[in-house]
Amino acid sequence: MLLCIEHLNKSFCGNPILSDIAFSVDAGDCVAILGPSGVGKTTLLRCLNFLERAESGSYTLDGTTYDLHHISTGEIAGIRRKTGFVFQEFNLFLNKTVLQNVTEGLTVVRRMPKAEAEETAMRALARVGMEDKKDAWPVSLSGGQKQRAAIARALALSPEILYFDEPTSALDPALTGEVLSVMRNLAGEGMTMLVVTHELAFAREVSNRVLFMDDGRIAEDADSAVFFSQPKTDKAKGFLQRLQKKGENET
Ligand SMILES: Nc1ncnc2c1ncn2[C@@H]1O[C@H](COP(=O)(O)OP(=O)(O)O)[C@@H](O)[C@H]1O
Ligand SMILES: [Mg+2]
Repeated sequence: MLLCIEHLNKSFCGNPILSDIAFSVDAGDCVAILGPSGVGKTTLLRCLNFLERAESGSYTLDGTTYDLHHISTGEIAGIRRKTGFVFQEFNLFLNKTVLQNVTEGLTVVRRMPKAEAEETAMRALARVGMEDKKDAWPVSLSGGQKQRAAIARALALSPEILYFDEPTSALDPALTGEVLSVMRNLAGEGMTMLVVTHELAFAREVSNRVLFMDDGRIAEDADSAVFFSQPKTDKAKGFLQRLQKKGENET
């Protein structure tokens, strides 16, 4: 077991948003987090990245357990060294080239010498098929290329686990395929991934587990083949039917 979250609770202004979240992730798992909008998926990832502070909960990574509420800035920095995040909105530095975006964390946070950082960054860019765009400025890239550069930036830091929050939902449908294919390759290479997504085909084909969230709770935690063929709750059944219908209308 690589990651284990227990008893995670979070509320905003007294409204409970996440209630007693618990799950674990094994090394090499690709876990899809599914659920309707507003159920707390982004808030969960933000708590795991300490952009939001959970009210309670424990976070165990690689055998070390942290108290999510009382965690120190030093411990947060330690966890961030082992985890990577990819967001919906790419968040690239617009005044830096693709290569500079990817080397930034290596030279500034890891204090890696520039030449070594550039070599590491080029290997990460190769994994997402973006070596030829190393000198491009973010504004000149398509959304799919921007997101692949953002994935390379996270990969360059050799995270033990990569978290994604709807990495394709800001993209034109025509550009989602190239990003999903990069993610499929990473999962195939054994990268441990936790992916919030509405892409049912991706979740079905690539993830080995599904966490279905409803109303701030994990309503189902199942093998992905089992979840898609025999969802247990009515909420999950309705969710799958709605998304499948939407997919059919779009194609
Ligand atoms: N900073 C915030 N302050 C108050 N409420 C918030 C904040 N962020 C999210 N929420 C609320 O938390 C709930 C869950 O939101 P979110 O985690 O974004 O859901 P999802 O990603 O599943 O769509 C929503 O009701 C949202 O309005
Ligand atoms: Mg969200």
